[in-house]
Amino acid sequence: MKIAIVNGPNLNLLGKREPGIYGNTTAEDCFHQLVSKYPQVQLVYFQSNVEGELINFLHANGFELDGIVLNAGAYTHTSIALRDAIAAITTPVVEVHISNVHAREEFRHVSMIAAKCVGVIAGLGMQGYGLAVEYFLGKQ
Ligand code: DQA
Repeated sequence: MKIAIVNGPNLNLLGKREPGIYGNTTAEDCFHQLVSKYPQVQLVYFQSNVEGELINFLHANGFELDGIVLNAGAYTHTSIALRDAIAAITTPVVEVHISNVHAREEFRHVSMIAAKCVGVIAGLGMQGYGLAVEYFLGKQ
């Protein structure tokens, strides 16, 4: 089973970015925890602050991977192009947010991508990434 963890804009700053909202764990620590927790899964990590690069990653990998765990950051709320890319690929995508977007500003309540994802996990902190991996494992 091969799964990609994909983080969008500003998530390279996890650990130092608004720790009161996003916690102190870096994306690297989170990824390494996943790698040791799920040795049976081939995990790959991709992060970009650039919308088109996220789309290119989905195009290049979204017909081969077994699952994609996507935290699209703020592009979640704005990107029809990302929504179309998720609709275009065959790999199922789980949308993840570290924070509970529904308890925050109104503009974060809307997701452009949710309807094209198999499901959404929000507000469970970094645990959300692992829970999404478990979902894909349960489908095997
Ligand atoms: C986020 C929530 C988004 O609204 C925000 O723009 C982010 C992070 C989250 O993981 O909680 O960058 O996706």
